[in-house]
Amino acid sequence: MSDYDKVEEAETLNIEVCQNVHSMLSTEEIENLISTELNMLEDIPLDTIIYGTDLINQVLKDHVESIICYTGGKKTQKCIKIQKPILHFYVYKLTMESAATETMENGGTDLPISSHWILPAKEFHYLWNNLYFKPGVKENLLNFVETAMLFSDHEVNSNIINCNKVVLLHGPPGTGKTSLCKALAQKMTILLANRFTHGELVEINSHSLFSKWFSESGKLVMQLFSELKNLLENPRAFVCILIDEVESLAHTRKACSNGTEPTDSIRVVNALLTQLDQIKRYPNVLILTTSNLSETIDIAFIDRADIKQYIGHPTEEAIHQIYTSCLEELIRTKLVELEENTEWANIWQLQQLCVLSIGLSGRCLKKIPFLTYAFHLRKEKCTLPKFLSAMRLTIDWQLKQNDGNVNIYDAEVL
Ligand SMILES: Nc1ncnc2c1ncn2[C@@H]1O[C@H](COP(=O)(O)OP(=O)(O)O)[C@@H](O)[C@H]1O
Ligand SMILES: [Mg+2]
Repeated sequence: MSDYDKVEEAETLNIEVCQNVHSMLSTEEIENLISTELNMLEDIPLDTIIYGTDLINQVLKDHVESIICYTGGKKTQKCIKIQKPILHFYVYKLTMESAATETMENGGTDLPISSHWILPAKEFHYLWNNLYFKPGVKENLLNFVETAMLFSDHEVNSNIINCNKVVLLHGPPGTGKTSLCKALAQKMTILLANRFTHGELVEINSHSLFSKWFSESGKLVMQLFSELKNLLENPRAFVCILIDEVESLAHTRKACSNGTEPTDSIRVVNALLTQLDQIKRYPNVLILTTSNLSETIDIAFIDRADIKQYIGHPTEEAIHQIYTSCLEELIRTKLVELEENTEWANIWQLQQLCVLSIGLSGRCLKKIPFLTYAFHLRKEKCTLPKFLSAMRLTIDWQLKQNDGNVNIYDAEVL
């Protein structure tokens, strides 16, 4: 799936512009000012966050939080020189509110049933750019979702051309599946801004919903979906529904067939699947699902997903990108000092650490710099080579922890 060829397009430069929340400039004014600014640049940095404060024009400094430029396709060049590019602007403002959590009382404790964000949300800002997978994974997902939205926009009959709007990401824990779903919802909201006024992301906590002690599940599913339908009735809202760790559905069914659970639970799973089938008819819905154990996902669920993407542990290249972003952050925050003229991203020491780290999950990799500091450096500021040497000790330690103990690690012991 990842290596299909795309028809070559003319060179288009996509520009995502995050406008300050309080800025009252029109989109057109912002676009004009940025066009002028980009024209002055010799090289346009790609896939790099350019902060508003680093722009030249004073108006932009005041009104723009950041810009990210990128071209289509899977090209990996860092900069671009284009004479007369076709510019595609996506100007958006972030919402600052954090998630609203809906809970249900059960036996004296409040169980979280769903969390709700208005997109694009500050919480997910830059998340898309900070997730690193095999080349093509993110691009393919975007293309699939864009096409699915296009088809439903044109009211293509789904009895003739089958196209659900269900994405399933599966693979080992800690590999970025949940994050990728959230980032995808945010990214699509930004890209579809000319069709929708905003996005809604509703994360359903399937563990609570299918908790085996939860006798109210059936009622809850109905209540949840009636709220979702309310959201979907607004054609100007792009509604993403995230059902994380769908394997809990399969567990529920299995428990039923063992005869250890009341038949209530099987009804709940069926109710959920029926409700999902109903809401798929809305043109503004996208259903995102994840699973840590692909072999035990409910088969009825697998059938419903038309985009099934395996997400594995990061490749050496992805590890390099993750470590680079971590080190850049340590340098930015002045915890690691960089001597002048160090081409540090290419240094041999870092390459070695990447090879050594193959097999660790993304979650684990992102903790290595913190653990390095905590275990080996503490309050000391240090130079990059010293930090990398200490990082090696932490990676060795981490690998020992994981050795023969992968499951415990995967169960998020750390
Ligand atoms: N490939 C990756 N690139 C960057 N960060 C990653 C990657 N995989 C995991 N992470 C980070 O690890 C943490 C856990 O990711 P999460 O999305 O919860 O994983 P999963 O849902 O697969 O268990 C997050 O902070 C995420 O940003
Ligand atoms: Mg997850």
